[in-house]
Amino acid sequence: MRKKVSIIGAGNVGATAAHWIVAKELANVVLLDVVEGVPQGKALDLQQALPIERSDVKILGTNDYADTANSDIVIITAGIPRKPGMSRDDLLQTNFKIMSDVVGKVVTYSPESILIIVSNPLDAMVQTAYRKSGFNRERVLGMAGILDSGRFKSFIAAELNVSVNNMSCMVLGGHGDTMVPLVGHTTVAGIPLAELLSKERIDAIVQRTRDGGAEIVKHLKTGSAFYAPSAAAVEMVEAILKDKKKILPCAAFLQGEFGIDGYYIGVPCKLGAAGLEEIVEIKLTPEEAAALKRSAAAVKELCDIIGV
Ligand SMILES: NC(=O)c1ccc[n+]([C@@H]2O[C@H](COP(=O)([O-])OP(=O)(O)OC[C@H]3O[C@@H](n4cnc5c(N)ncnc54)[C@H](O)[C@@H]3O)[C@@H](O)[C@H]2O)c1
Repeated sequence: MRKKVSIIGAGNVGATAAHWIVAKELANVVLLDVVEGVPQGKALDLQQALPIERSDVKILGTNDYADTANSDIVIITAGIPRKPGMSRDDLLQTNFKIMSDVVGKVVTYSPESILIIVSNPLDAMVQTAYRKSGFNRERVLGMAGILDSGRFKSFIAAELNVSVNNMSCMVLGGHGDTMVPLVGHTTVAGIPLAELLSKERIDAIVQRTRDGGAEIVKHLKTGSAFYAPSAAAVEMVEAILKDKKKILPCAAFLQGEFGIDGYYIGVPCKLGAAGLEEIVEIKLTPEEAAALKRSAAAVKELCDIIGV
């Protein structure tokens, strides 16, 4: 039996995630939105691309949660995105209401699913999904670190004019201004980044990574990034569906790991068939550990406002 992935929110990130999943022939997809016609139209368009892409999966667009029943994975992208001048945190109250409503419906129809949350502000939204779903932490994850790491890797690869396949790095922490790129763990074909680039250039790339989302929002004027965010969510889907045991930076609920307790924050996660199979407690420098704690404090502030 082919696996089933439902995507809630058929906007830019959701529809593009559907695109990557069906193009990679990973699973059957259900695309759901509150707006009538949009998921149906986009799903039909993607369905007509399948013979061209030679992909035999099925895709359905709907406004009815009954169609999402018994999903293996549910990606939640429902919510509003940032506009120029807005921070991710400005979305808090609106997206909290949407997330609470969506998660209740999702778990009614797919009680055994694994949730991948994308909506912003990410860490507070995934904490909301965790609390409202009643699922264990293995089955509720947030996507942000893969995207932030992708941005970091893409800038370094361009700067050094080397293959993106040579890059290995992780960006941990909260998704936002408090993200923590692990420069000391970054290598290019196994060579430490500090041997290849000056501190000034590395600092500049770290800053551009931090501002990576805002740079795109500024260009687009309406809406925010979606190609890389959806590709990142689908990397998580693939790791789970194929039981890859892949270590990826994802938002996970910490229970004492890295000295943080009771909050979602971006950390190295091993993803396999069970969802979160292990939090990999790599050794951080004192500065990185302090930055991670600052990140967690920022997440706590938002979670306190919405009471999750
Ligand atoms: N975690 C990350 O790294 C990351 C990256 C990019 C975007 N995001 C976030 O993802 C979210 C989606 O971004 P986007 O660019 O796709 O936005 P978008 O506006 O294109 O799409 C959002 C969709 O959600 C739908 N929606 C709203 N309320 C809903 C509800 N109650 N039920 C079902 N659907 C509902 C809307 O109709 C819309 O189609 C935003 O919150 C954005 O900030 C997160």
